[in-house]
Amino acid sequence: MKSIRSHAEFFSSKSLLVALTFISAILYGSAVKADTRGENLYRNCTICHGPDGQGIPLQLAPALTGLSEKYIVEQLKKFKSGVRGAHADDIAGLRMLPMAQTMATEEDMQAVASYIVSLGSSPIEPSLEGGDPVKGQATYATCLACHGPDGKGNDLLNAPSLVNQHDWYQLVQLKNFKSGVRGSNPQDIAGAQMRPMSMLLADEQMMKDVLAYISTLGK
Ligand code: HEC
Ligand code: HEC
Repeated sequence: MKSIRSHAEFFSSKSLLVALTFISAILYGSAVKADTRGENLYRNCTICHGPDGQGIPLQLAPALTGLSEKYIVEQLKKFKSGVRGAHADDIAGLRMLPMAQTMATEEDMQAVASYIVSLGSSPIEPSLEGGDPVKGQATYATCLACHGPDGKGNDLLNAPSLVNQHDWYQLVQLKNFKSGVRGSNPQDIAGAQMRPMSMLLADEQMMKDVLAYISTLGK
């Protein structure tokens, strides 16, 4: 009896092992497939965002590295539906909007976002002149509730990381939020959170000051 039982145990543990190996092979296979899918999709993006995802100023394209997977997916959805980038005065957004159409499904967006995150993030030299980081630090007190004291953002609040990003791009975004070129579409819930914040920035000088402070973060 004993030997029969241990035989049965032996077989069931063996078949369990076979089943587990089989399942993990499937999971591994799909993970690998998702990875190459993201990498393949990203080929359409390199011409503007660069092979390393660091952005290309001449193309008006920001760095994508440093952004969270969730934020990237959200922005791609917004560009695809025209909630972002469809405003007639949105010169840069209008360049990105058709690119989001190259992603057929949300899975595509997730795959490309996860590939972008895998590229890693590195500091980007500031390009704007005349910003005062000391004044900017005082202004940043109103930003940190959402973007964090370290500027790394907060997915729960849909607030993106502001570190390791081009300051010229961020200046355009602050102006766009303020004028309603970005964030004024009634379906743009996260944009509507950021818009009133941009209105606290009285002029370009105040924007440059806060960006000068942000560029000291994340190093
Ligand atoms: C023709 C040039 C071009 C191509 C190709 C392109 N983009 Fe963009 N992308 C832009 C520009 C320009 C912006 C900035 C839009 C703005 O200023 O609002 C942008 C913005 C973005 C943003 C928002 C970043 C942020 O900080 O909010 C994401 C995400 C993005 N692109 C992802 C992609 C992905 C993924 C691809 C490939 C499928 C891609 N882009 C292809 C030009 C391009
Ligand atoms: C109430 C929360 C909140 C506060 C406070 C806030 N933001 Fe934002 N910010 C957001 C959200 C949410 C987004 C993303 C909007 C979207 O999805 O388009 C954003 C987007 C941005 C962007 C665009 C980033 C990109 O990659 O395109 C910049 C730049 C920015 N914020 C700067 C600031 C600055 C500077 C301050 C302080 C003056 C500030 N924010 C205060 C919530 C906030």
